[in-house]
Amino acid sequence: MNILLIGSGGREHALAWKIDQSPLVDVVHSTPGNPGMDVIGPCFDVAADDIDNLVKLTLQVEPDLVVIGPEAPLALGLADILRARGFDVFGPSRLAAQLESSKSFSKARMMAYGVPTAAYGEFTTPALAKSFLRTMEAPFVLKADGLAAGKGVVIAETLEQADAEVDDMLSGKFGDASATLIIEEFMHGEEASIFVITDGHGAVYLPAAQDHKRVGDGDTGPNTGGMGAYAPAPVVTQAVMDRIKSEIVQPMLKGMAKDGMPYQGVLYVGVMVTGDGPKVVEFNARFGDPECQVLMKGLAGDIVPAILAAATGGLDGNEDAFESLFELERFDPTATVVLASEGYPGSYARGSVINGLAEANNMPGVTVFHAGTDRDSEGAIVAAGGRVLNVTASGASLEEAISRAYAGVDRIDWPEGFCRRDIGWRALKRS
Ligand code: AMP
Ligand code: GLY
Repeated sequence: MNILLIGSGGREHALAWKIDQSPLVDVVHSTPGNPGMDVIGPCFDVAADDIDNLVKLTLQVEPDLVVIGPEAPLALGLADILRARGFDVFGPSRLAAQLESSKSFSKARMMAYGVPTAAYGEFTTPALAKSFLRTMEAPFVLKADGLAAGKGVVIAETLEQADAEVDDMLSGKFGDASATLIIEEFMHGEEASIFVITDGHGAVYLPAAQDHKRVGDGDTGPNTGGMGAYAPAPVVTQAVMDRIKSEIVQPMLKGMAKDGMPYQGVLYVGVMVTGDGPKVVEFNARFGDPECQVLMKGLAGDIVPAILAAATGGLDGNEDAFESLFELERFDPTATVVLASEGYPGSYARGSVINGLAEANNMPGVTVFHAGTDRDSEGAIVAAGGRVLNVTASGASLEEAISRAYAGVDRIDWPEGFCRRDIGWRALKRS
């Protein structure tokens, strides 16, 4: 079977790496890919949001399955267009992907289906937003409705800051994406990332993961796309997972299907485990990055049968068979450390040379996934983005996985990069 994978980040490198190991798969084509992916299979130069050319490329490659990595093409309806052309696609329709692309849509669906989440209000005018703020307690959570490259959520400590943020967002801080503003209750607890592979009816669950969104050690500094992750995450006990399934995922999938928007692909449930049980922070229409790297690396079994079944409607009624592929006995504890360019998530330089990748990749349990890398004219790997590499390692325990990942990091010679040194601290603190 031939695959066409869309995207170019660490998430997509990990997907390509895992999919390529399946005995069902002959070739993994990627677009646009990265220097880690073009050694797995051919890469094309069509960008992940260039819908017209992605359709042309798909007609040319004629893959048996299209796997869409990032949110932008999903929000633009690529899955619908390709399905209408007869292709099997792993990724939700434009309507279903609104669970990520519109927070207002997502909140309304949660309310309609009785799914636990933070209480909220939705505003398009500053005066109403500010009077609503005065009914809430600090800290104040303000969210742009639309996609804002992971920067659309602001947590304001004071009313003054919150008022200023209301004015900024509603006067176009994120363009159309912040023309509508969500203000919601602050939820206390520990976060986890849950990934559900679904054909819109049947669902299988990967082990729970935990991301590290803040740039600095001890969860300090600004939010990023994610500085590291690990799985399994012990905050999600079996009892918590059972509640996530029955109180969140099942009602969402059932409701979306009933309302004519069956959700097909991977549903990312950002959960806050509160004293009151699990509540939804957000949904995303794709795998998390860097959570995906950890899940693909740790999974002993083949991922392809499940994603193929999600794309073709073969999951419903067969969940037990797929679930056994993903059970914890068949998952090695895994951690990933993101190496980022000095300055990220602010501005940073490009073009510095990275050495020692092959040596790191050969260390016990370690796989280095590429994200923002490029090749210079001499073929050397250089930094070309904010998050540049994901040093990922499995071990017999999470402790071993983390120490292997940092041994890999220390083998890489890239003075212009940095990483967090405390990935996995919440899990280590528990044990
Ligand atoms: P989101 O993009 O909605 O996931 O928000 C980004 C981050 O902001 C989340 O990962 C949380 O750490 C935090 N956050 C968002 N909403 C809330 C909330 N209602 N209560 C507490 N923290 C939140
Ligand atoms: N790691 C968080 C995300 O992918 O949105």
